[in-house]
Amino acid sequence: MKFFVDTADIAEIRELADAGLLDGVTTNPSLIMKADRPMKDIVAEICDVVDGPVSAEVTATDYASMVREGKILAEIADNVCIKLPLTLDGLKACKDLTGEGYLVNVTLCFSAVQALLAAKAGATFISPFIGRLDDINLDGMQLIADIRRIYDNYEFETEILAASIRTMNHVREAALIGADVCTVPPATLKGLVKHPLTDKGLDQFLADWKKTGQTIG
Ligand code: G3P
Repeated sequence: MKFFVDTADIAEIRELADAGLLDGVTTNPSLIMKADRPMKDIVAEICDVVDGPVSAEVTATDYASMVREGKILAEIADNVCIKLPLTLDGLKACKDLTGEGYLVNVTLCFSAVQALLAAKAGATFISPFIGRLDDINLDGMQLIADIRRIYDNYEFETEILAASIRTMNHVREAALIGADVCTVPPATLKGLVKHPLTDKGLDQFLADWKKTGQTIG
C-alpha cells in the first residue's frame, strides 16, 4: 500500500519525504487555506520534493472551467494529479482529462456507486472519505471494502485512495481490505511508528547494554 500525506504544509512534507515515507501528496482547498500561501507556489514546491503524484484540486464547478483549471494546474509539474469533485461535470472532465493522459483523482466519494462511475470515467484514483462517513455514524471502512470488491469484479484499474483517515486503525483496516493508497495527515502518519512496547523494549536493551561496558565502534 502506498502512503500519501494529506497536507499542504511543505515543512511537514519535507520531513516525511526525508524519512522515505512518502509515495505522494494530496491537497484540497481547505488545506491550501490553512497553509495561507498562493496555491501554485505550494504545489510547485511540493512537486520539487516528492516524485509521486501530487493532487491539486480545481475549484470550478462546471465542466469546461474544470478542464481549463485542471490543465493550468497540470502545467506546474509532470507529477500533478488533477483533483476533481464527484459531480456529473467532474466525471465528464475526468473522462476528457484522463483520455488526454492527465492523472486525475476524483474526490468527495461517499458511496460505492459513485466510485463505480468514477472508474468508468477513467479516474486514476478514487478518494472515498472514511472519517467523514464515520462522523455521521456510517461505516467508512465498509465503503472501502465495497469499492475493492466492485473494482476487482470488473478489473477496473482505478486505484482506491482511502482518504479522510483519522486513526491508525483506519490505516490498518484499509491495508487489510487492499486499498491501493492511504492519504494520512502528517501527525497520524508519524504516529504509525509508535508503540509503547517498542519504547519500553528499547529502554531496557539500552540499559542492559550500558551495563556490559561495551561499545560497538
Ligand atoms: O483530502 C481529503 C480528505 O483526506 C479530507 O480529510 O479529515 O478533512 O475529512 P478530512
